[in-house]
Amino acid sequence: MSKKLFIKTYGCQMNVYDSNRMADVLKPHGYETTDEAEGADLVILNTCHIREKAAEKVYSEIGRLRQQKDARPDGGKDMYIAVAGCVAQAEGAEMMRRAPVVDMVLGPQTYHRLPDMLKSASEMRAKTGKSRVMDTDFPAEAKFDHLPKESDFKSKAAFLTVQEGCDKFCAFCVVPYTRGAEYSRPVADVLAEAKNMAAKGVVEVTLLGQNVNAYHGDNGAGGTTSLGELIRRVADIDGIERIRYVTSHPRDMDEDLILAHRDVEKCMPYLHLPVQSGSDAILEAMNRKHTRDEYFRIIDRLREVRPDLALSSDFIVGFPGETDEDFEQTMDLVRRVNYAQAYSFKYSPRPGTPASLHETQVEEAVKSERLAALQALLNEQQVAFNQSFIGKTMDVLLERTGKQDGQLIGRSAYLQAVHVDLTKAEKTLAENGKSTYSDYMGKLVRVQIAEGGPNSLRGELI
Ligand code: SAH
Ligand code: SF4
Ligand code: F3S
Repeated sequence: MSKKLFIKTYGCQMNVYDSNRMADVLKPHGYETTDEAEGADLVILNTCHIREKAAEKVYSEIGRLRQQKDARPDGGKDMYIAVAGCVAQAEGAEMMRRAPVVDMVLGPQTYHRLPDMLKSASEMRAKTGKSRVMDTDFPAEAKFDHLPKESDFKSKAAFLTVQEGCDKFCAFCVVPYTRGAEYSRPVADVLAEAKNMAAKGVVEVTLLGQNVNAYHGDNGAGGTTSLGELIRRVADIDGIERIRYVTSHPRDMDEDLILAHRDVEKCMPYLHLPVQSGSDAILEAMNRKHTRDEYFRIIDRLREVRPDLALSSDFIVGFPGETDEDFEQTMDLVRRVNYAQAYSFKYSPRPGTPASLHETQVEEAVKSERLAALQALLNEQQVAFNQSFIGKTMDVLLERTGKQDGQLIGRSAYLQAVHVDLTKAEKTLAENGKSTYSDYMGKLVRVQIAEGGPNSLRGELI
C-alpha cells in the first residue's frame, strides 16, 4: 500500500534539489509525495540554518506538527516526523532534547540512508513506543553514489547539484559547518544526470553548488574539469536549451568561466555573484579574500564579453564593526555596478562562527535603517532594469500557470518572472490549431513586453 510523504523545504536551491532526491530515495519504498502534512505518514522538514529567523521557523513548525499528530484519531501512531537539512546538522542533538515528537534527525550528507533510518525508527517504536534516530555523519562515501538514478521532473527547469560544501569559512557563515568540505561530483556523473533530465523533457538546467564556480570534478582521465568546461559539455546535450549556475564566489570567477558567457549561447546572460559588502575593511573582516576593486574588475571583464549580462548579488548590512562609511561604500558599489536584482539581509550572529564573537556588534536599529536604504536603492535599480524591456521582445520559458485566471508564468533569459497574458495567447493557440495551454508548458516562446514592475514583467505571446 502506498504511503504519503510530505516534504517542507526551507532555504536555498540546494535544499530544493535535496528534497526532490529524498522523495526519489523513498519512492521505491512505497512513498508518494503529497502537498500537505495533513494525513501524511512521513513529514520531513528540510531546514535552513543561515539566519536566526530561518532556524526559528523550524521549531514553530514542529509545534504545529505535534498538534496535528495528537489530533489524529489513532494519536498519530503511524506518523513519523523527520528533520533534515542544515538545522538538523547544526543542532541535531539539541533538537532531539527540545522536540521529543521528532523521530529522526538527519544531515544533508546522510539522506541516502533514509530508508534504513525509517526501518530503525519503526523497530524502535514497536519495542519501546518511541523512536529516536539521529544520523548527522559526514560519511566517507559520496551520497550521490547511493541515490537512485531515476527521478520525475515536474518542472522543465531543473536543478542539478554539481558541487557541495564550502572551504571558504566566511566569518559570518554556517555553511562550511553544516554542509562540510568542498566536494565536486565527477564530470561523467553530472553529464549522465543532465542527459537523463533532457530525455525527460527538461529544457533548462541550473548547476548548483555552495561554491559552484570552485567546481573541479574528476574528468575520468586523471585530471579535473572546471565549471566553464562543464558548461560547454552540458551545452552539447540535445534538448538542454538554457544553462545557469549558482552560487559563485568572486574569487573563483576565472577567465574560462567568463568566456563561457561569450562563447556558449545556451549559457544565460545572468550571474548571481555575491559581494556582501562594498567596504574593503568589512570584506577583509568577513574573510571574503578579495577587495572591491577586484570585484569591479571581474564585473568589467564580464560586461566586456557579454554586455547585456544581468547581475545579482547578496548583501549583508550591519556586519560587526561596520561604520556609516563602510555602509556608504556598499551603497557606492551598488550604484557603480547597477544590479538587475539582489538579496540583502541584516547580519545575524550564528553560533560557532567567528563573527558572532566580535565585540562591536551593530545595533538592531542601525541595521534596520541601513537595510531599508540599501533595499530602496536595489529596488530602484531592479524596476529600472525591468522597465527597460517595455516594448521589446524576449524569449520566455513557460513554467506554470499563474494565480490569476488566464495567465502563464515563465522566466526570461535574465531570470525575470514574466506573466504571459493568456487571452492573447488563446487566440494564438486557436490560430495554431492547438487546444490546451499545457501545450505551451516547458516551451520557449517569444513575448512582447508591455509592462515592467519591481518583481515581474507582463507581456503577450507573439
Ligand atoms: N555561497 C554563497 C552564499 C551562501 S549563503 C556565497 O559565498 O556568496 C546565502 C547568503 O546568505 C549569503 O550570500 C549571505 O549574504 C547571507 N548570509 C549568510 N550568513 C549570514 C548571516 N550570518 N547573517 C546574514 N546573512 C547571511
Ligand atoms: Fe558561506 Fe562564504 Fe562559503 Fe558562501 S563562500 S557558503 S558565504 S562560507
Ligand atoms: Fe540554508 Fe543550508 Fe542552504 S543553511 S542556505 S539550507 S546550505
